[in-house]
Amino acid sequence: MEHSKLLYALAVLAVAQLGASYYMYDKITTLNTANIETSNILTGLQTDVTNNTETTEQRIIELSDSIYAGQQDVEDIQDALKKYDRSFDKLTDSVDDLEKLSTTDPELLQKYSKVYFLNEHYAPADLTALDDKYIYDNGKEVSISSEVWPYLEDLLDEARDDRVDILVLSGYRSYDEQSTLKGMYTSTYGVGANTFSADQGYSEHQLGTTVDFTVTGLNGALDGFENTEAYNWLLKNAYKYGFTMSYPEGNEYYEYEPWHWRFVGKDLARYLFKNDEYFYDLEQREIDTYLIELFD
Ligand code: DAL
Repeated sequence: MEHSKLLYALAVLAVAQLGASYYMYDKITTLNTANIETSNILTGLQTDVTNNTETTEQRIIELSDSIYAGQQDVEDIQDALKKYDRSFDKLTDSVDDLEKLSTTDPELLQKYSKVYFLNEHYAPADLTALDDKYIYDNGKEVSISSEVWPYLEDLLDEARDDRVDILVLSGYRSYDEQSTLKGMYTSTYGVGANTFSADQGYSEHQLGTTVDFTVTGLNGALDGFENTEAYNWLLKNAYKYGFTMSYPEGNEYYEYEPWHWRFVGKDLARYLFKNDEYFYDLEQREIDTYLIELFD
């Protein structure tokens, strides 16, 4: 009996053992399945993370490209604006130049002596009568274009500061005055008058930009002016005020006229002085390029 109880107990134990083993096996299998699922989820998550990272990086690259392209656009726009500014400045300069040219009489830089003709109606827009202290007083009023007067005044004042005696004998002459003068000379000298006196319409004096100088010591005469201190001073300094001698020795138009000086603007006068040339040596088209800066 004791033996059969033992066997029974062993059998119960064995069955319990088997049941426990089966239970354990089932749990392990369930656990394994759960592990595999977890592992799959993790792999999936990892793939998602990797994909998302790549997408994000791609987006960052695209964003950088877009920012760079935007910067390029901004630079292009800035360049375009600079070009526009330059074009606008040039246009403004051109408009200023046109305005200047439209108010500057083209007659003022033409060659007159036997080359170009001024009609009887031509006269400077405005004239300034010179103060007595600047003229050789022979009872006649001397006037000059008001635009030229500031330059002539500077010249005369500077000569005075240098203690050089220079006086103006003659300035603007109308067409009719030139006609009368030429008639007087012709009646005295005949055709010989053509060597020193222009016909009406051909004199630079009609422009109002030209003067004849003299000195007190010559008592208002012109001859002998080339031997004066005034003449030497003019040779060295007149260009600074825009004046040039029209008829130097050996010119092909008239006798040597050291007293006859014409305003051509500072730039052209400086050019002539530096190159030892005279107004009538230049081609008219070269002279014309200085018209725009005549009163600069
Ligand atoms: N004496 C110069 C040539 C003139 O009459 O204009």
